[in-house]
Amino acid sequence: MIGRIPENILEEILSRVDIVELIGGYIPLKRAGRNFKACCPFHQEKTPSFTLSPDRQIYHCFGCGESGNAFKFLMRHERMEFPEAVEMLAKKAGVILPEASRQDPGATSLITSIFKVNELAVLNYERSMQSIESTKAKDYLVERGISEQSARLFKIGFATERWDSLMSHLRTQGVNVSLMEKAGLIIPKDVGGYYDRFRNRLMFPVFDLKNRPLGFGGRVLDQNLPKYINSPETAVYTKGKHLYGLNWSKDAIRDSDSAAVVEGYLDFILPYQAGFKNIVASLGTALTVEQIRLLKRYTHNVVLVYDGDSAGEMATLRSLDIFIEEDMQVKVATLPKGFDPDSFVRKFGVEKFKELVQQAQSLFDYKLGIFKSRFNQKEVEDKARICTHMLESIVKFKSAVLQSEYLKRLSQELDIREEALLEELRKQKSSSPAKRLQSAAAKKPLGINPTEKFLIGLMLEENNLIERIRNSLEPADFHDERASRIVSVMFDLASQGRSVEPRTLIHHFNEEDISQIVCESIFLDDIAKHDKEKLANDCIQRMKLDRLRLRRENLHEQIKTAQHLGEEEKLHELMQEFHNLIKKG
Ligand code: UTP
Ligand code: MN
Repeated sequence: MIGRIPENILEEILSRVDIVELIGGYIPLKRAGRNFKACCPFHQEKTPSFTLSPDRQIYHCFGCGESGNAFKFLMRHERMEFPEAVEMLAKKAGVILPEASRQDPGATSLITSIFKVNELAVLNYERSMQSIESTKAKDYLVERGISEQSARLFKIGFATERWDSLMSHLRTQGVNVSLMEKAGLIIPKDVGGYYDRFRNRLMFPVFDLKNRPLGFGGRVLDQNLPKYINSPETAVYTKGKHLYGLNWSKDAIRDSDSAAVVEGYLDFILPYQAGFKNIVASLGTALTVEQIRLLKRYTHNVVLVYDGDSAGEMATLRSLDIFIEEDMQVKVATLPKGFDPDSFVRKFGVEKFKELVQQAQSLFDYKLGIFKSRFNQKEVEDKARICTHMLESIVKFKSAVLQSEYLKRLSQELDIREEALLEELRKQKSSSPAKRLQSAAAKKPLGINPTEKFLIGLMLEENNLIERIRNSLEPADFHDERASRIVSVMFDLASQGRSVEPRTLIHHFNEEDISQIVCESIFLDDIAKHDKEKLANDCIQRMKLDRLRLRRENLHEQIKTAQHLGEEEKLHELMQEFHNLIKKG
């Protein structure tokens, strides 16, 4: 939808906007030396740890780690998408965006038109709900325990039995059939002409975060099949990219810093109307990465509430692993067999539902439980299978601490030596190139090595030092995979004779972690006060020693393995290398 906005334009905008003025318009700032401080707008705190650098034009919070430039601030604080933030700041800065980077005008008008038609359809279905024809729809709402207030809030409507009810209504509003078809509201007949897609159904509109109607789900009022008919994919609606209800629940999710994820429309509506408001529905499909990222804007803590029947399906288990990859905390609450959130809340009440969510199992326990019940733990072969499945998840944790913690637990639960599990984990890590990359990131401890961060800070503070450091170190010498990528780009920029600015790096990568590392590096207090040349030399020295030490440790491991396996020749080679290394170090 949005073309790429050229780097130099972004630079231009950032250079004309003052981040102090921008953020100062939202929260009170206090001067602190060469920076400004404030209480962080992104987390609760009493003493200010939100720091703003007028020189660098970026912000960083030492409390919650949130950091970035002016675009990022708007995206976070105003919940804007990147192009929106760019457009808003461009206006402020008086920078004219090139045509190509704006939305394609044809596409824009189609999107706007579809939203308009959908809005008309929402109104029409709502109005039909009030007509005589719809007594059975109203009765059905009562039967399902949906209050009138909820029906209004969620704009639940009714599509009548007629074949052209909506179509003829929209016609009188001046909408042409081609647009109705593009909105997915009508279907062409083989013999020519069209008919309404939704007939004799209770209508649930699905909205985006700006409360624009994306499409509909329509439910039969009886036992007929299919139970639900949904809008097809359109220019505004892509399956698996939205979450039903997030437009109503996002504040509650942010405030409580947690979200329950359920499957169906009613599973969202019933708990919500009973006061459980931090909830969204995935609408039947296994969760996608896009949906998880959408949720991640508001919270990192998610509880999946699954039906007793669908729990344990492979699709479900796989989508759980995406949460780990996305660094989200995920738990699973399982409902008694035969219940879904909707029927559970109606039968036992919302307090019981809250309890159930609070007692959700960790992902680890949940998965282990499933595999233990599926396989026979007493059989060696089966035990191995359980291990393989569990390790598939464990390998995905970015944190080495969590990995080793879960390995320990797995070892206890299955009564298998930890070393054997570790060995298996290594095999899984190295089984594909993609996984190998991942494991490189997983090996490092949680935080980045201070020396590496310090060096990055030094180079940013004093661009002249980059050449000097480039002569002594390679990007690969940086252990942290992210640091290594940052340094590599810094080296490149410097060798092209370009200045290396934190904000350039931040939007070059446009990654959360990278932005955090860059910000942390430049706010290291000591740098400004000391002899930077000397600091750089000390850091280089230390990195070189570290490199040798690691190489030695690595060799040592390999030697042990070779000894263990009795690989004489390899052992000899390794010993040779080890001695050479010791002579050097
Ligand atoms: P379920 O089959 O669990 O239905 O589907 P439900 O939500 O409990 O439905 P009610 O309570 O009988 O009304 C879960 C979700 O899967 C999608 C819908 O989004 C539904 O809410 N679904 C289900 C469809 O899209 N089509 C179907 O035919 C069935
Ligand atoms: Mn249900």
